[in-house]
Amino acid sequence: MKIRAAVLHELGLPAPYAKSKPIKIETLELDPPGRGEVLVQIKAAGLCHSDLSVINGSRPRPMPMALGHEAAGVVVEVGEGVTDLQPGDHVVCAFVPSCGHCLPCQEGRPALCEPGAKTNTEGTLLSGERRIHLNEETVHHHLGVSAFADHAVVSRNSLIKVDPEIPFDKVAVFGCAVITGVGAVVNTAQIEMGSTVAIVGLGGVGLSALLGAVTAGASRIVAVDVNDGKLEEARKLGATDTFNSKDPEVVTLIREATGGGVDYAFETAGVVPAMNVAYGITKRGGTTVTTGLPHPDHLFSFPQVTLTAEERTLKGSYVGSCVPARDIPRFIELYKQGRLPVDKLLTDRLSLDEINEGFDRLAKGEASRLVVVF
Ligand SMILES: NC(=O)c1ccc[n+]([C@@H]2O[C@H](COP(=O)([O-])OP(=O)(O)OC[C@H]3O[C@@H](n4cnc5c(N)ncnc54)[C@H](O)[C@@H]3O)[C@@H](O)[C@H]2O)c1
Ligand SMILES: [Zn+2]
Ligand SMILES: [Zn+2]
Repeated sequence: MKIRAAVLHELGLPAPYAKSKPIKIETLELDPPGRGEVLVQIKAAGLCHSDLSVINGSRPRPMPMALGHEAAGVVVEVGEGVTDLQPGDHVVCAFVPSCGHCLPCQEGRPALCEPGAKTNTEGTLLSGERRIHLNEETVHHHLGVSAFADHAVVSRNSLIKVDPEIPFDKVAVFGCAVITGVGAVVNTAQIEMGSTVAIVGLGGVGLSALLGAVTAGASRIVAVDVNDGKLEEARKLGATDTFNSKDPEVVTLIREATGGGVDYAFETAGVVPAMNVAYGITKRGGTTVTTGLPHPDHLFSFPQVTLTAEERTLKGSYVGSCVPARDIPRFIELYKQGRLPVDKLLTDRLSLDEINEGFDRLAKGEASRLVVVF
């Protein structure tokens, strides 16, 4: 069938993207779903920094690639062997497909699925196939999803069936920002009620982490960004203290304000300067968690002795250490109860044709979550 989709042909074109137009909206041919695959009508897809990192070359991927990985839609058709989803089901996409058979999957760590990581890097579906074509050329999938498109074929193992009551633009963000941010707090760090927390980088992931910290009972939540607008937003969502990390004294100021640092600091900006702040404001005995995905050449360093003599913990968090099939429905239930108001992260809704302008807004740190609606 023919679809309209957002395709990136070249890495690293300069901003502003409204001018350089790295993403072209093209008419592509989409194959029917193969064995274990599902055709989904995409209804909403969020703009995530991980898309931007492919556009700007921080996360190099094979070209051309149809972008978009944080999405929700409706099942249209199921391929051979798919017995537990049917047309009409509402689904959210997970950005790491889990095979269910490799050791990490069997250990309950699907975010680390080995075939999932391999096929995501190669730009294919979990089956190893690519189902989208532009004229004679086969296009790569982004994170097994490619959701800036009116339809997508994805692996069954990339889909989570969700409550059909939640509007698509709101449920889409559970697929990436929410599971990553909330999961970092409740799964990776497993913060205790009453603990003190800092979030460095207040985009969709960081603000989700902030909401997770509120829900998990953090007593103090320090929010840090380079953009004052984000600090204001963080206060509305429950931050108790805010600091602009453009201030060269930010680490000292936060350590003073918190009596020596916080129990848990989360780096959610995806840049080394933010990681330096997060590590610097973690107290003795505390834990620093990073969700950021900077360019593989960018190194983070710290005095090794602090790790030892201060009994520090440093943790990475991918997909919020979530089991998406378990955690997305759990987080949606908390949203329905008003205890995880992630709809407040939605800055704006865009049409597919406005996507380059949308990435300019995300790159400037002006928007929390922008969602393309179909
Ligand atoms: N670990 C995962 O599973 C996972 C999932 C999704 C996204 N990510 C990554 O998480 C990061 C954040 O994603 P997002 O979509 O929320 O990004 P975003 O662009 O929406 O937000 C990033 C925020 O960080 C702020 N920032 C930039 N430099 C800073 C600094 N030095 N100090 C403090 N704040 C700073 C920006 O102003 C912005 O508000 C990216 O690196 C993204 O690739 C990881
Ligand atoms: Zn994402
Ligand atoms: Zn696996």
